[in-house]
Amino acid sequence: MSKKNMKGIILAGGSGTRLLPLTKVTSKQLLPIYDRPMIHYPLETLRKAGIIDILFIVAPDHAGDFLKYLGSGKEFNCHFSYEIQDKAQGIAQAFQIGEDFIADDNVTLILGDNLFEDDFTQAIQSFESGGRIFAKKVSDPERFGVVEFDQDNRATSIEEKPGHPKSDYCVTGLYIYDDTVVDKVRKLDFSDRGELEITDLNNLYLNEGTLDVAFVKGAWFDTGTFESMFAATEFAREKSFKNK
Ligand code: G1P
Repeated sequence: MSKKNMKGIILAGGSGTRLLPLTKVTSKQLLPIYDRPMIHYPLETLRKAGIIDILFIVAPDHAGDFLKYLGSGKEFNCHFSYEIQDKAQGIAQAFQIGEDFIADDNVTLILGDNLFEDDFTQAIQSFESGGRIFAKKVSDPERFGVVEFDQDNRATSIEEKPGHPKSDYCVTGLYIYDDTVVDKVRKLDFSDRGELEITDLNNLYLNEGTLDVAFVKGAWFDTGTFESMFAATEFAREKSFKNK
């Protein structure tokens, strides 16, 4: 069997209420992180890893602005497609919206507000089947999906924003899945916050014994708050100076 193609999805939905008033006139993912719009960073992460066929899923309010900035993808040597997420109904919904785009291929989803220092080429290109997610040790795990490990460092559970986190390792916003993802999302119910939860999807893979939990080595930012946006901006500025 020949290896499947890897498609990419960048999820830039949501209304960014935590960043009001900045998000009153534009989308969170178009706000600046140092010298670029936020969405540029996850795009670079996929591009560096060799993904060229990329679907952007955006909220309806500022869809035109994404198109204006990103265009056809030609400028980035990629091919871009667009879909609308009408309501912020969860990360896992991206695979329903992107069903036709994914077709029979594997898919890497990255959140439009996640900035990674690492290069994921190896992790993405070596992927064959199941699911692969990336954990990172943080000081505030209760803000995220949290992975629990056993003594052999094997993941045993994942909980979404737990009141009492069972570890300091959170699930970051980069997810790789095989083409069973669309069927798996069909099995999910909406959570109490009205979303199809990525954590529930990851638990389906985990319970099936096909979830690989890798680790993020370099810096990682979920830039959904003023403080994390500021920290990401400082990081991007330093990186840019080093590369000059
Ligand atoms: C989402 C996921 C969470 C994950 C985080 C990474 O959180 O639900 O599991 O750890 O992204 O950025 P949300 O953006 O919904 O707060």
